[in-house]
Amino acid sequence: MQKHLLLPLFLFISAVAVAQSMPAEVKKVSDKYACAACHLMDGRLVGPSWKELARKKYSAKKMGQLIRNPKPENWPGYPPMAPIANITDAEVKVVADWLSTVK
Ligand code: HEC
Repeated sequence: MQKHLLLPLFLFISAVAVAQSMPAEVKKVSDKYACAACHLMDGRLVGPSWKELARKKYSAKKMGQLIRNPKPENWPGYPPMAPIANITDAEVKVVADWLSTVK
């Protein structure tokens, strides 16, 4: 009987865990520009993880400059990030504010 409750419970807990790791407003920006195609919460994908990016403690202004004009020399061993020229300051700020809370 109880067994039937385990899968939905597990899915619910996973959904909550994902929601906590990236708030909806950040996910919206990430989805729009497919940041998640290259950046994971943990571990290397094409680019460094969000946790590694958080350690750089970039201001929103600096992060905007780096997203529009990536400096691959900041990440030895990684390919250059494709510049995202059309990301808005407000969108960068959403990501930067969230990253400042990521440990
Ligand atoms: C096509 C893959 C790709 C996509 C899509 C992508 N990135 Fe990156 N990103 C990288 C790689 C690779 C690096 C490391 C090399 C570099 O900085 O050029 C990087 C580096 C960064 C850095 C660090 C820049 C620095 O100089 O330290 C930030 C911040 C960042 N990405 C944010 C984002 C955000 C936010 C998005 C979505 C709006 C995004 N990236 C989308 C691949 C990607």
